[in-house]
Amino acid sequence: MSVLRPIPTGVEIKLDPKRYIVSKTDPGGRIVYGNDYFTQISGYKESELIGAPHNILRHPEMPRAIFYLMWEHLKSGRNIMAVVKNLAKNGNHYWVTTDFDIKRDRSGNIRHYIAFRQAAPKHVVKKIEELYGKLLEVEKEHGMKASVEYLYGYLEERNMNYDQFIEELAKPKGLAGIFFAKMKKLFG
Ligand SMILES: Cc1cc2nc3c(=O)[nH]c(=O)nc-3n(C[C@H](O)[C@H](O)[C@H](O)COP(=O)(O)O)c2cc1C
Repeated sequence: MSVLRPIPTGVEIKLDPKRYIVSKTDPGGRIVYGNDYFTQISGYKESELIGAPHNILRHPEMPRAIFYLMWEHLKSGRNIMAVVKNLAKNGNHYWVTTDFDIKRDRSGNIRHYIAFRQAAPKHVVKKIEELYGKLLEVEKEHGMKASVEYLYGYLEERNMNYDQFIEELAKPKGLAGIFFAKMKKLFG
């Protein structure tokens, strides 16, 4: 497991829009599985990823408010379609939309989370970079609570929750949903 954080290079990794980056974690967010595309794009060996916390990919330009929202959804068993900028081992980055599947045991306790990621469309990245930049600014000045409030205000103004906002941005919609549904079956 790597302790030193890669230094961001500002270089974007081009993702194949047809391929999925899949990873599976335990309830605490430690990686238990990653597909080949995950290791290929992240630049980490499988042995470095397994057992590592998922924040191994965290990009410093990602607002904490988004991960707060992500975990609020996941812990309560709700999916969230998030847009995330990830940091590869060599400091390059890639933008993805992430969809989750939540696996439970027979008693209903959460056993695993599975994330299915696909290249985020350029126009989505452009719009989300503005919002994330603002959230990051608020976070630096006033902390995460303030940026969560800012995010809620931003969404309320548009009469949407975060999922609806992302879905709206990612139009034409529907297609991604179909692919994600197929992938979920595969990894079910
Ligand atoms: C299934 C799953 C997938 C995740 N994927 C990512 C990811 O691709 N990139 C990322 O930065 N965090 C991801 N996270 C969130 C991390 O666990 C963590 O909350 C986030 O990186 C923020 O780290 P920090 O709290 O140390 O700042 C994922 C969590 C889960 C449960």
